[in-house]
Amino acid sequence: MSVENDFLQTTLLLCILLVYAQVPSSDRIGEPLVSVAYEYKMTTNPDAQRFQKGADKYAAYLEIPEGRLRLDLAFANLQEFLPQATGSLHALDLGCGTGALGVRLAQLGFHVTLLDSSPPMLDLATRAAHEAGVAERIALKHGDAAQLATFFDAGSFNLILCHNLLEYVDDPCAVLSGAARALRDRSGILSILVRNQAGEVLKAALVSGDLTAAECNLTSEWGDESLYGSKVRLFAAESLHSILSSASLAVTAERGVRVMSDYLPPKVSRNDEYERIFELERKLGRRPEFAAVARYTQCLAHRAGSGMKDSA
Ligand SMILES: C[S@@+](CC[C@H](N)C(=O)[O-])C[C@H]1O[C@@H](n2cnc3c(N)ncnc32)[C@H](O)[C@@H]1O
Repeated sequence: MSVENDFLQTTLLLCILLVYAQVPSSDRIGEPLVSVAYEYKMTTNPDAQRFQKGADKYAAYLEIPEGRLRLDLAFANLQEFLPQATGSLHALDLGCGTGALGVRLAQLGFHVTLLDSSPPMLDLATRAAHEAGVAERIALKHGDAAQLATFFDAGSFNLILCHNLLEYVDDPCAVLSGAARALRDRSGILSILVRNQAGEVLKAALVSGDLTAAECNLTSEWGDESLYGSKVRLFAAESLHSILSSASLAVTAERGVRVMSDYLPPKVSRNDEYERIFELERKLGRRPEFAAVARYTQCLAHRAGSGMKDSA
């Protein structure tokens, strides 16, 4: 080989390495979690503000029985549908928040990409990944869940989580369409968790004793969020199914999350009785008659039909 060829090859290699080094580590799926460069001014949306200023408040909520139950029940429901061998599989957690579920997936062997629009949330997720010793299986992406097509190739993920995100985005259908495209063929699993409109009716009546609000919630598209004192989108069963269908997704299974635990009388200690409450909630959440009025609805879905091509 001539000296000229050697020189050309070396120059080319150096160029490739240089370009790769310019890509933030968070943009490379499967790259170990190292550091992330954030664009703090990504949005002026007030929803985004609450998760930027209130990340620690949200993390604290996940430590109390209500928050833990939502996480633990949703994860237990999901686990029923996960394949046995997960070591080579890729998962994406949309609106990952503190990364609690992403870390659990990484502990199962998944390569996990955590995406969130809030830098403070991603900081919490980074800490959680390091503390759990799974940082090498976790990558971070700071961005808008409505822009998935600009971040990831079609068919990149075997599993996508979309838990308590659709309540806060402008266009839930756009997010789900992007998720459907990012799912690897029809075997890919999408887990969606949303605030259930019917649950808000019971909450207003049984927790607040507010009969006017209970009646209003029968048809309201927006509910009150107690953590930040703002509004949150509600999902009725029909509207959720219609969005899924518009996004070319089909329902594999449906579960209710937190059917009765929000209404237990004070004599039942949520901490001391956590395991029993969890087990009872698991049973209730599987039965459609109880799931219909749960605080949250979890949908396990997959890409519908064979019309959608990976190159879409
Ligand atoms: C209620 S938290 C849910 C966090 C986590 N999925 C969970 O179940 O605990 C909503 C998360 O979605 C993020 N988020 C809101 N809008 C977003 C958007 N358009 N793109 C990406 N993340 C978003 C927030 O920053 C926040 O971390």
